Amino acid sequence: MKVYAHRGYSGRYPENTMLAFKEAEKTGCYGIELDVQLTKDGEVVIIHDERVDRTTDGTGWVRDFTLEALKKLNAAAVWNGKYGFEPIPTLEEYCRWVKDTDMVTNIEIKSGVYYYEELEEKTLALVKKYSLEKRIVFSSFLHSSITLLRKLAPEIPCGALVEYDDLGNPGYYCEKFDFQYYHPGVKALTEEMVKSCKEHGIPLNVWTINDMGALEQMYEWGVEGVISNYPGVCKGWIDSKK
Ligand code: G3P
Ligand code: MG
Repeated sequence: MKVYAHRGYSGRYPENTMLAFKEAEKTGCYGIELDVQLTKDGEVVIIHDERVDRTTDGTGWVRDFTLEALKKLNAAAVWNGKYGFEPIPTLEEYCRWVKDTDMVTNIEIKSGVYYYEELEEKTLALVKKYSLEKRIVFSSFLHSSITLLRKLAPEIPCGALVEYDDLGNPGYYCEKFDFQYYHPGVKALTEEMVKSCKEHGIPLNVWTINDMGALEQMYEWGVEGVISNYPGVCKGWIDSKK
C-alpha cells in the first residue's frame, strides 16, 4: 500500500510548505499530495484554502494577493513560533525541488469553490517544464477540471476526488469517464465501493487516513494508496507488515 503525505507531512509541520514536503520525503513515503490555487497575477501557488486566514498571519482571498504580497505571509504562523517563517511555496519552486527526488506528486486542482481562469493549463505547463509527467497524478473535486486535463495531457493520470458523500459504483464511473484513480474520503467508503473499483481496474487513494483503525481497514480491503497527515507512521506500520 502506497503512502502519500497529505499537504506534506502536515501532522507535524506547517501544511503545504517546502518544510512539510522535505520532511515527508525523509519518511521514505511514496508521494506527496498538495493543493494549488492562483494569485492575482496568475502564479500557481500551493495552499489549501481559498483564503489565507486559517494557515497564515494574513487575511483575505488568495486571488486578491499578488505573488509578491503573498510571499510576505507566514505559512507557519499557527505553529506559535516553532518553525519561524515559512513562505507559501509556488508550484514552480516545488517542481524545481521534486524533480531531483523520486517522489510522485498528487496535484489537487482547487477549482471547486472559485473557478480560477487557466489554473489547469498553468499547472500543466509547470509539470511539463520540469518533465514531471511520469510522476504526477492530478485530482480535483471539480471533475470538469480533470476531464480538461485528460484532454490536454492524456499521458498523465487523473483521480476523481469525492467528498464524504461517496459515489456508489465508483469503478464504473471512473472507467466510463476515463479517470485512472478514485480518491474518496474515508468516512463514507465501504468495502462494496472498493470492490467496484477493483472490478473495473481502478486503484484507490483514500484520504485522510490519520488513525490506526482506518489504516488497518484500508490495508485489509486491499486499497492501493492512503493519503495521510502522518506519512512516517503509515509507512512504518506498512513496512512492519511485510
Ligand atoms: O486530495 C485529498 C484531500 O486533500 C482532499 O481534501 O480538503 O484536504 O484538499 P482536502
Ligand atoms: Mg487536498
